[in-house]
Amino acid sequence: MAQFRTAQADTVIAPSLLAADFARLAEAADSVEGAVDWLHVDVMDNHFVPNLTLGPPIVKSLKAATDIPLDCHLMIEDPERWATGYAELGAYNVTFHAEASADPVTLAKDLRAAGAKAGLAIDRDTPVEDYLEILPAFDTLLIMTIKAGFGGQAFMPELLDKVRTARAHADSGHLELRIEVDGGIADDTIAAAAEAGADAFVAGTAIYGAADPADAARRLRARADAARSSG
Ligand code: DX5
Ligand code: ZN
Repeated sequence: MAQFRTAQADTVIAPSLLAADFARLAEAADSVEGAVDWLHVDVMDNHFVPNLTLGPPIVKSLKAATDIPLDCHLMIEDPERWATGYAELGAYNVTFHAEASADPVTLAKDLRAAGAKAGLAIDRDTPVEDYLEILPAFDTLLIMTIKAGFGGQAFMPELLDKVRTARAHADSGHLELRIEVDGGIADDTIAAAAEAGADAFVAGTAIYGAADPADAARRLRARADAARSSG
């Protein structure tokens, strides 16, 4: 009997603005226009993670400055209070951390009602198994491949076991779920993440640290596509 296989979604490349010049975010967006799918916006509150980055006013300005869909990654406490505001500002995808949320399913519903895709993020030390049953409430599952908080850290290949587990679960349940990886994604790591089952790839240093960000993004996509089609 032919085995049912969920149709493979196109590869998503999402450059992380955390590695761009914060005084020139609109230029950073323009520099990858046409070569990427989402712009990854790392919101950090100096509580959930020690680092501090940006919030709603900058997301609002970015939304006005670019047509690239905004992928907001909220590394903040109390997402129940703040997350839907990002959806209302026009973020395409709003991802909050499982570790920070008291009621992830209700928040996912609220995000969808506010017009965004709903994303759940799993940090380095959090098992994905605890969240498999609630994945139908989500459009995106972001699996950290570092400890959340800072760019430029080394990729942790052992965290790809979570991607494999989530991909197997999503496929067997025929879920339409993006599995996004974030942290240390670069030319030498993206294929492993793609083979594990990721289909959305955040890259900060590898894109904005490159002399030609658009070219770096295209190279990452080619490597991810090759690895995914051979899988
Ligand atoms: C870190 C952020 C990442 C970060 C990745 O907590 O979530 O999006 O920008 O940076 P690189 O790609 O440099 O590891
Ligand atoms: Zn991120």
